[in-house]
This record gives sequence, C-alpha cells and structure tokens, in this order.
Amino acid sequence: MFEIKRFAEVTSTNDIIKAMAKDGAPEWTVAVADRQTAGRGRMGRSFMSPSGTGIYMSVLLRPTLCADLSLLITTAAATAVAKAVEKHTGKAAKIKWVNDIFLDGKKVCGILTEGQITQSTALDYAVLGIGVNLEPPKGGFGELENIAGALFNGGGYDRDRIIFDILENFAEYYKNLADRPHLKDYVSRDMLSGKTVKVIRAGEVLCEAKVCGIDENFALVIERDGKKEHLATGEVSVKI
Ligand code: BTN
Repeated sequence: MFEIKRFAEVTSTNDIIKAMAKDGAPEWTVAVADRQTAGRGRMGRSFMSPSGTGIYMSVLLRPTLCADLSLLITTAAATAVAKAVEKHTGKAAKIKWVNDIFLDGKKVCGILTEGQITQSTALDYAVLGIGVNLEPPKGGFGELENIAGALFNGGGYDRDRIIFDILENFAEYYKNLADRPHLKDYVSRDMLSGKTVKVIRAGEVLCEAKVCGIDENFALVIERDGKKEHLATGEVSVKI
C-alpha cells in the first residue's frame, strides 16, 4: 500500500510530497530522507535534520474529511509514533499536546501537517510530515540540548522497521478517522494533565493554568480562576 520514495538529501520531505501531490501522486506516497537542508517545524520554526541520525518522512493523504478534521490526522500520527517508539525502545512515550512526542522528558519527534484546501470544506491533499530523532546528531543538539532527545544512544535499531511500524499504526487509525479511534491511546499518553502550564497566544503568555485533560475533540482542558476552558489547537500553545 505504501509507495516509499527514498532520498539522500532534500530541502524538506513536505515540499517533495506537496510537489508530488500536485502532479497527481496517489495517497500513501511516502518520501523518506536521510537529511533535510530546510526541515520545517510548526509555527515557522526550523527542524534540525542532520544526516543519518533521524527519520524525516512525509506521507501524502487525500482525505475526504472536512478541513477542520485535519487535527485528527496530526493527533493520530502522534499516537502512531508514540506506539512505535514504545515498541522499539521498551520505554513509555508521552505526548505533549498537540503533537510532540517525549521520551525520558525530552522531545524526540515533531509532526507538521500541511494541507491544500481547494473547496470550502474539503482538503485536496494533506501532507503529514514526521521527524524522529533516532540518535543524537554527531555534534549534539546544540542550543536544543535541554529540550531535544533521541530514541537511542548509538546504533542497534532497525530504521526501516520503525518507519514501517509508524506507517502501519497510522494507517490503522486512518481507516475510520472520523470516529476518533486513537482518542484513548492519545489520552493515556498525555503528559500535561495535572501540570501547570503557560498558555501562549501569538508568542505572548496569556495566562498560567492547570491542565485537567484532553476532550473528545483533542482540545486541552484547563482550569483558571476556578473555571474550565477548552483550548483549541492552532489558537494557543503551551509551555510547561
Ligand atoms: C515540530 O516539531 O514543530 C514539527 C517538526 C516536523 C518535522 C518533519 S521532518 C519531515 C517533515 N519535513 C519537514 O520539513 N518537516 C516535517
């Protein structure tokens, strides 16, 4: 089912898949690169993508879902990665709302979903981009040293198997995505519940709040001044 295209170096696998999508490539076309020269993260950040130490891959999806359900793609991918990480490391992976994967307290994976909307409600295509740090880069993570981590410290892992497990886990959820089949697996790995976070909007700290959980729409439920609020992704982010 997966049509995997491999590259030694690309700017960004998301760009490669976008170009393929415009050329009519089918759903489940996957680009995997050893290195990205312009890896992108969420909110305009760059994503460190050095040679030979990570998985940088993007998947072409042609969902029949409404555009606002694209959040389901991202959260399903986060859950799929978390399960694959657990299988291959034997450790418990956590998900930091919305879609960062943490292992031993460090971020080991980021996800960036981008889409092309051609009608008012439907996505023509979505590009699901996943970056996993398999081992630390040769020179370390630099300024990200305190935040970023990796699944392994040296070799001894099966990169292709990890890629395949992520894709398989995701495809299983994707079959009935509108039913939110991943909700339970996502919530059970939520790392924010019970913690106090800073709620950020447009780069500014909006407030401090206690996290109560995740609702059925994958909104973060917080409590501030004794009142519960449901925060939609995209509008705000959080800092622990
Ligand atoms: C984030 O942590 O903010 C998201 C990072 C997403 C990185 C992946 S790597 C593969 C794909 N190509 C990109 O340029 N970005 C995504």
